[in-house]
Amino acid sequence: MKHFLKETDFERAELPKLFALARELKRKRGQRGVPLPLKGQTWALIFAKASTRTRVSFEVGIHELGGHPLFLNKNDIQIGRGETIEDTARVLSRFVHGLIVRTFDHSEVERLAAAGSVPVINALTDFLHPCQIYSDAFTLAERWAQGTSGVKLFGSLRGRKITFVGDTACNMAYSWVLGANLFGMKVALAGPKGFAPTPAFDAFLANAGFPGGYEFYTDPIAAVRGADVVYTDVWVSMGKEEEQAARLRVMAPYAVTGKLLAAAKPDALFMHCLPAHEGEEVMPEVLANPRSIIFDQAENRLHMQKAILTQLVAQRR
Ligand code: CP
Ligand code: NVA
Repeated sequence: MKHFLKETDFERAELPKLFALARELKRKRGQRGVPLPLKGQTWALIFAKASTRTRVSFEVGIHELGGHPLFLNKNDIQIGRGETIEDTARVLSRFVHGLIVRTFDHSEVERLAAAGSVPVINALTDFLHPCQIYSDAFTLAERWAQGTSGVKLFGSLRGRKITFVGDTACNMAYSWVLGANLFGMKVALAGPKGFAPTPAFDAFLANAGFPGGYEFYTDPIAAVRGADVVYTDVWVSMGKEEEQAARLRVMAPYAVTGKLLAAAKPDALFMHCLPAHEGEEVMPEVLANPRSIIFDQAENRLHMQKAILTQLVAQRR
């Protein structure tokens, strides 16, 4: 059973096809006669955290592939009252064709996948956000390899450098480190001293086949030198609200300003998974810069997730 819990759940060799499929789905969106690989299927979305992009792009995408999305707030089902993750997985597997899960502890998506008998997609945990990384990589590939084959589309990422600035111990930073290594990109992190990736993450990365696969800087200007992409995320991720004051203080030097973007390559792109806090992690002049591609990123969630769903369903058959 194929699941998508982390970036490396697809092999590098599978990615040119996946990227080409995302581009095809984007091009043909809304046309008559598009394939409906989820016809007759229901996919449950179990969410324990807020969401705009992920929830809407999955609900719309499942509908467009011929399936039915069933949104379940974690607090409204018995799992929120103590029913085990394993029993929830076993029961839902009798009703639905797949689970899309947003939660806190990453082990929960692994346990759902292990106990159930349908594919599970990670829609963000405290550890990783792989749907975002794949969509973002597709957004970059579209920019860098317009009008070429799937191999060239995916291959256009190779050797490029992305610098992630800010909360370098959050799900987006970890996911970009893993994703960049898988895509053949170089990745630098720029954040406060206490926010370097943990030894547990380093062990996970080594186990994935990418030992020491990133550079960590406390100086953001040094980190963005030579970067093709400057990426940031909120400084207070969902679940970290109690640390807000301390985080805003320690991360203040890591705001993406016009000056910081100018220290990267002259044509460097700015990315943010959104939601953004203008004036905190990113300044208005950067959001307004034509090299900001934040809304293309948001749109591509739809196309890439439709490609992922299509591949997971095809591999079940
Ligand atoms: N980027 C992202 O996952 O957004 P949502 O939290 O709105 O889903
Ligand atoms: N790091 C953020 C990402 C939101 C899409 C969070 O976990 O809240």
